[in-house]
Amino acid sequence: MEFLHPNTNILSSLSLTFLLHLSSLLFPTSSYTLPDYYFINCGSHSSIFTYKRNFTGDENPSNFSLSLTGTTTSAASNQTLPLYQTARIFTKPSSYDLNLHQNGTYVLRLHFFPFPSLGNPFFQVSASGFSLLSNFTSQSGVFPLIEEFLIKASAGKLKIKFKPGEKERSFAFVNAIEVFLAPQELIPDYATLHIPRVTKQGSHGNFTGVLDNFRVLHRINVGVGDVKRGTDTLMRYWVPDDPYLLPGNTSKPHIYTDEIKYQGGGATEFIAPDNVYVTAKEMMNTNSSDNISWRFEVKKGVNHLLRLHFCDIVSVTSNETFKFYLLFYLFIYGNYHYNVFPWDRYPQGAAPFYIDHVVESDDSGFMNVSVGPNSESDVRNAMLNGVEIMELLTEKASDSEDGASSGKRLFVILGSCLGGLVLVFIVFFGVMFLRFRKGFSNGPLGSTHSRTTARSSVFGDLNLGLKIPLSGILFATEHFDAKLMIGEGGFGKVYKGTLRNGNRVAIKRSEAGHGQGLEEFHTEIRVLSKIRHQHLVSLIGYCDEKDEMILVYEFMENGTLREHLYGDVIRSLSWDERLRICCEAAKGIDYLHTGSTGTIIHRDIKSTNILLDESYVAKVADFGLSHSGPLDQTHVSTEVKGSFGYIDPEYFRCLQLTQKSDVYSFGVVLLEVLCARPAVDQELPRDEVNLADWGMVWQRKGELEKVVDPCLEGRINPSSLRKFGETVEKCLQENGADRPNMVDVLWDLEYCRQLQHSAVPRQPYEDSTTEVSWGVPMPALQRLPSDSFIVEGDDSVSGSFSGVASSQPNGSEVFSLLDMDGAR
Ligand SMILES: *[C@@H]1O[C@H](CO)[C@@H](O)[C@H](O)[C@H]1NC(C)=O
Ligand SMILES: *[C@@H]1O[C@H](CO)[C@@H](O)[C@H](O)[C@H]1NC(C)=O
Ligand SMILES: *[C@@H]1O[C@H](CO)[C@@H](O)[C@H](O)[C@H]1NC(C)=O
Ligand SMILES: *[C@@H]1O[C@H](CO)[C@@H](O)[C@H](O)[C@H]1NC(C)=O
Ligand SMILES: *[C@@H]1O[C@H](CO)[C@@H](O)[C@H](O)[C@H]1NC(C)=O
Ligand SMILES: *[C@@H]1O[C@H](CO)[C@@H](O)[C@H](O)[C@H]1NC(C)=O
Ligand SMILES: *[C@@H]1O[C@H](CO)[C@@H](O)[C@H](O)[C@H]1NC(C)=O
Ligand SMILES: *[C@@H]1O[C@H](CO)[C@@H](O)[C@H](O)[C@H]1NC(C)=O
Ligand SMILES: *[C@@H]1O[C@H](CO)[C@@H](O)[C@H](O)[C@H]1NC(C)=O
Ligand SMILES: *[C@@H]1O[C@H](CO)[C@@H](O)[C@H](O)[C@H]1NC(C)=O
Ligand SMILES: *[C@@H]1O[C@H](CO)[C@@H](O)[C@H](O)[C@H]1NC(C)=O
Repeated sequence: MEFLHPNTNILSSLSLTFLLHLSSLLFPTSSYTLPDYYFINCGSHSSIFTYKRNFTGDENPSNFSLSLTGTTTSAASNQTLPLYQTARIFTKPSSYDLNLHQNGTYVLRLHFFPFPSLGNPFFQVSASGFSLLSNFTSQSGVFPLIEEFLIKASAGKLKIKFKPGEKERSFAFVNAIEVFLAPQELIPDYATLHIPRVTKQGSHGNFTGVLDNFRVLHRINVGVGDVKRGTDTLMRYWVPDDPYLLPGNTSKPHIYTDEIKYQGGGATEFIAPDNVYVTAKEMMNTNSSDNISWRFEVKKGVNHLLRLHFCDIVSVTSNETFKFYLLFYLFIYGNYHYNVFPWDRYPQGAAPFYIDHVVESDDSGFMNVSVGPNSESDVRNAMLNGVEIMELLTEKASDSEDGASSGKRLFVILGSCLGGLVLVFIVFFGVMFLRFRKGFSNGPLGSTHSRTTARSSVFGDLNLGLKIPLSGILFATEHFDAKLMIGEGGFGKVYKGTLRNGNRVAIKRSEAGHGQGLEEFHTEIRVLSKIRHQHLVSLIGYCDEKDEMILVYEFMENGTLREHLYGDVIRSLSWDERLRICCEAAKGIDYLHTGSTGTIIHRDIKSTNILLDESYVAKVADFGLSHSGPLDQTHVSTEVKGSFGYIDPEYFRCLQLTQKSDVYSFGVVLLEVLCARPAVDQELPRDEVNLADWGMVWQRKGELEKVVDPCLEGRINPSSLRKFGETVEKCLQENGADRPNMVDVLWDLEYCRQLQHSAVPRQPYEDSTTEVSWGVPMPALQRLPSDSFIVEGDDSVSGSFSGVASSQPNGSEVFSLLDMDGAR
């Protein structure tokens, strides 16, 4: 390998690279201060001081304007930071119009914090003629999502446009916006500098295109911990690198306790703050020649600006008397190498600098970066301090200038106190209202099969648009050929098949006198045809010709969750995959409980009713027993339905059916996922037969780790397991009232995932803002689960949530929202 024998005249060959960074000499850093605007608190009339800036409400903007149509504001639950308790929702194309006074590169940040009861947003965002986000959807989660862009703009108006997708009920939203002028050195004038271009195959000369608009994909503090927005010079957040490190135990953190010396020609404190440069990863064993490698997810086949931050804090003791130097390789995608030689640039050491490359990603969806030792070096080591990866934006915004007509401007502020619950109510009344209007204006539903009719008729009795003729079913199942049978349940037989249009489907055929009857059949059609959610199995059609009762579902390639936990397990699921699947199932169930169709209680949550599609995405299935009805909190049923081992004991006793019965059953599923054994196993000793009882015994003893699936032993982060155990315990409470809602379970599970991912070095309940001796901030963004709130461990925000005013929505507010809904 040629590069292992570099030119012996290292000094002269490397001095070239110095040129790359000369430009920053021209811009003294002292001339820049972080501007005061624009920082916008969307959907609010009040200002919030957070992240060290005053986020002004956008209700009556003095400094900028909004071109809006059909918008409203709304509130998330008070469990989040105040900034994220309000959002602006757009149902029509709209824009924020800001005045820029200067040509330059601007930092544009969009904050999104979707709340679960809102439904699924789907939209585009563009600015300055470029498409920033296309087909953006966002799952409700534990953390706010902050998308950052660097946009070159000239003085004048900057329009940030939000455009809801074409799909019915699509909407756009945003919680907060930041737009401010970046320091000039942040993006040097690449037109006059030469920047090497790299592909998977290796070096590709110098990049010749235009480099001015970027989307920030990754911003990583290599070494120890993260760097919080509150301590960064441009309010950026730098995440820890550990999740990106490839396994191999080849690196260890290095922490520098002296002062970093910013030097002319190198990085400035705005390029990256000293907190990034005081920690690094270096080689674990300087005798070995092992590389340290990271892997970053990127878009396929797109140009990225890869900025690597270095500061030689490893061999700083070198001086004029005892001269030695550190020289090491930087590899990008394995086939490109670059000699990094800090001493050449800054003999005095501890001086930060950065190296830029334009990297075209390959079709793996990942970018690999490694550093490794160079045998020519006096000190055999390699290091890295920080990584930024920015996707080069090239997609022009497709939208024509939409004449922002003077649509209705409706501003509704919902009290943050009731939060999501109120929304559920409103959506429910909205549905009732639509149904009522429809009853008046349209006659009986026609029998046209157009999609729109099919969709709007779901509020009627059976959905005629979904009806599939028996001949179609016979075609799909090859006349119910036994070789296509994939299951047999209480309802009848399940076949896989292919419809005439090529769609793969699962076909459930009821057998006369076999379990469920016509009533359940119709219930399931009614319930399922109303529901479209990415974590619920979709009904594609049904057939009730002759005496047949057939339901046609989307086909779930990977079968049931149960099959992947125990039995003939082909590949055991990792803990993270299991948590993800649980989160997805929880989202599906939460949607049933609180979604736009009113309350639906599943009644038969179990591991065989959670199915996995070809990419292992979980969806909840089988609503045959579902109870759907208006929002009455309880329902007295005449007989107990459900599956043994999963049935809520309270329901068993009182026949009181609530959403909390599903929460109980889900708790049993969680234990199944952890222990990989059935809910009921008669072959085990008596005290182990029932998983729920047995699992709780170990949980109460605090020894849940003794019963985890052997495949997971030693692979679960103890904090993640502890949180998971607590979540199970809450779900399995004797009294329904003591159990959490599905959304709380979801948050807890998301939190378990976070704990698993980030291997947070401190206990979840500890304060995250305490100073550590060397001044390195510890991981931020902690949400204290369930009954708490999100805090990015920034001293300016923690504790400031308590005094938030909340107002109850009154009747007229509810109706203005309905009006808007009906007008669409
Ligand atoms: C934030 O801005 C509002 C409105 O411009 C002003 O009333 C308020 O005093 C400001 N707060 C801070 C802390 O600067
Ligand atoms: C916004 O308002 C502040 C104070 O009212 C003013 O100093 C600033 O110049 C304004 N910004 C713009 C872009 O007009
Ligand atoms: C966005 O979605 C539309 C259809 O919903 C599709 O036609 C288009 O290609 C998508 N665009 C991108 C960039 O994925
Ligand atoms: C700003 O940019 C525009 C065109 O992009 C140019 O015409 C104008 O001269 C620039 N202004 C300054 C002050 O550089
Ligand atoms: C890239 O730019 C550098 C610096 O100007 C120059 O020395 C080198 O020859 C260029 N490489 C190519 C392939 O053009
Ligand atoms: C990594 O290597 C170090 C020293 O070589 C060793 O002490 C440590 O136990 C190893 N860790 C793992 C997880 O293998
Ligand atoms: C490194 O190599 C030297 C000489 O080959 C040896 O003396 C030393 O023990 C080695 N150190 C480690 C940690 O392997
Ligand atoms: C140079 O480095 C050596 C070894 O680290 C140290 O002993 C010496 O004092 C240093 N000399 C100067 C002038 O800093
Ligand atoms: C990047 O790293 C992954 C994981 O080790 C590896 O599978 C892949 O082949 C690497 N890609 C390249 C181009 O080296
Ligand atoms: C380090 O990475 C380079 C580029 O992928 C590779 O050629 C080299 O063999 C690696 N070194 C070791 C010890 O794996
Ligand atoms: C949040 O709202 C709930 C009611 O939904 C209330 O009980 C709780 O006290 C509120 N918490 C805060 C911090 O305002």
